[in-house]
Amino acid sequence: MRRPLVAGNWKMHGTRASVAELINGLRQLAMPSGVEVAVFPGCLHIRQVVEGLTGMRMAVGAQDCALDPAQGALTGEVAASQLQDAGCRLVLVGHSERRLLLGESDEWVVRKFAAAQSCSLIPVLCVGETLEQREAGKTLEVVGRQVGSVVEALGVEVFARAVVAYEPVWAIGTGLTASPEQAQEIHAAIRAQLAAKDAEVARGVRILYGGSVKAANAAELFGMPDIDGGLVGGASLNADEFGAICRAAGS
Ligand code: PGA
Repeated sequence: MRRPLVAGNWKMHGTRASVAELINGLRQLAMPSGVEVAVFPGCLHIRQVVEGLTGMRMAVGAQDCALDPAQGALTGEVAASQLQDAGCRLVLVGHSERRLLLGESDEWVVRKFAAAQSCSLIPVLCVGETLEQREAGKTLEVVGRQVGSVVEALGVEVFARAVVAYEPVWAIGTGLTASPEQAQEIHAAIRAQLAAKDAEVARGVRILYGGSVKAANAAELFGMPDIDGGLVGGASLNADEFGAICRAAGS
């Protein structure tokens, strides 16, 4: 049985004051016991969140890491080893906002994935197609290439210590959600792609759905057989809404 995971991606949001308020809200939540929960604040707030959530069953992750795991002369970047030292347990790699707006290539995503694992962080590999690619019937090809680049470079076994997040770009922050059936189709394809190399790894890997997940649509999405939780953006900035999404993953 795969344990559901709900991850809150706070993106470039928050001040020390608003983060303190959000931590306070998260501390009040009644969380279902069978669900893992993680939040991904901006780098500046990682320590505040790690300290603020002490004693809670909630992990803290980062939204990105540098290509190389070790510290070094690389102005403005944060190494996976530094994230680990700060108390992070996970890190997002290949979020579509970074792939599309900052030009991150599959090759860079592979290096970040490897850097994260070399520092005992769990990479959350984000994949997904744009609207144009979906309309051109290229969804499976695009997602297959994004997942395949990691499999080819690092081997399928690395997914025993990783999470995948399928996030159709057209559903991110738009209020448009993939239907449970649309999402299930892609999740099943990702799992089949991994199963072709290693059935056990494929059975164990958690594949999250992301893209306008909210309390109102979470239960339906999480009810699909290959959807093992969610990567939640906007709705994770509201503790009550996020709590309701976490409970939906436990039901
Ligand atoms: P959203 O973002 O929930 O605001 O659509 C999801 C994500 O980008 O991880």
